[in-house]
Amino acid sequence: MDVVGSNKRSRDEESVEAEERVAAEKPLIKVAAICGSLRKASYNRGLIRAAIELTKEEIKGVHVEYVEVSALPMLNTDLEVDGTYPPEVEEFRRKVLEADSCLFASPDYNYSITPLLKNALDWGSRPPNVWAGKGAAAVSAVGGGRRAQFHLRQIGVYLDLHFINKPEFYLNAHRPPGKFNTSNGDLLDLETRENLKEMILSLQAFTLRLLGKV
Ligand SMILES: Cc1cc2nc3c(=O)[nH]c(=O)nc-3n(C[C@H](O)[C@H](O)[C@H](O)COP(=O)(O)O)c2cc1C
Repeated sequence: MDVVGSNKRSRDEESVEAEERVAAEKPLIKVAAICGSLRKASYNRGLIRAAIELTKEEIKGVHVEYVEVSALPMLNTDLEVDGTYPPEVEEFRRKVLEADSCLFASPDYNYSITPLLKNALDWGSRPPNVWAGKGAAAVSAVGGGRRAQFHLRQIGVYLDLHFINKPEFYLNAHRPPGKFNTSNGDLLDLETRENLKEMILSLQAFTLRLLGKV
């Protein structure tokens, strides 16, 4: 038996352990993930599912919670009674409030975000504004999502959301080769998964800075 060899640890093992030590020291951040599409096989929701998977399997210190917005009524201030909101809205606002940062998966509808996403942003903006001071990141499954993301960032100025600038994340999901399962919206492309990982790590680092924890 090679006694010397058995005591030697590879560089890989050491660096993995070092990364795990650093990750273990990081406080857990909570990310509220919101999708701007209602489509059952939405590629944008597929990106959120992939982000949740990544944080369970490969990224320590980040918990991504998918926050459903499809049941929110269209904003109507008549629905506000003595400073309270309809139950679905209260529940949504509580989930956002509890998060440290937000991940928006936004389609592009005619050069902007979808009405579904705008409605959710507007409900969250009612007093007290639940978005205030949070970190944020945007991903889009279509190239046009870049334009929607600009509108989202612009809205974020008034909401006091702090978007990370890099890495940018958008795809051309409808162009071959297919990156998603068209019947359920699951992300299939491994390179895209790696890019998504970079984005989540960047949001994590920025959120920890915002929270003053690094
Ligand atoms: C009303 C409408 C307007 C759209 N406008 C654009 C657009 O301006 N630019 C673009 O790239 N895609 C546009 N699209 C395509 C969607 O962004 C694309 O289908 C996206 O995949 C939808 O997101 P989902 O897969 O998460 O449902 C539009 C789709 C709809 C229904």
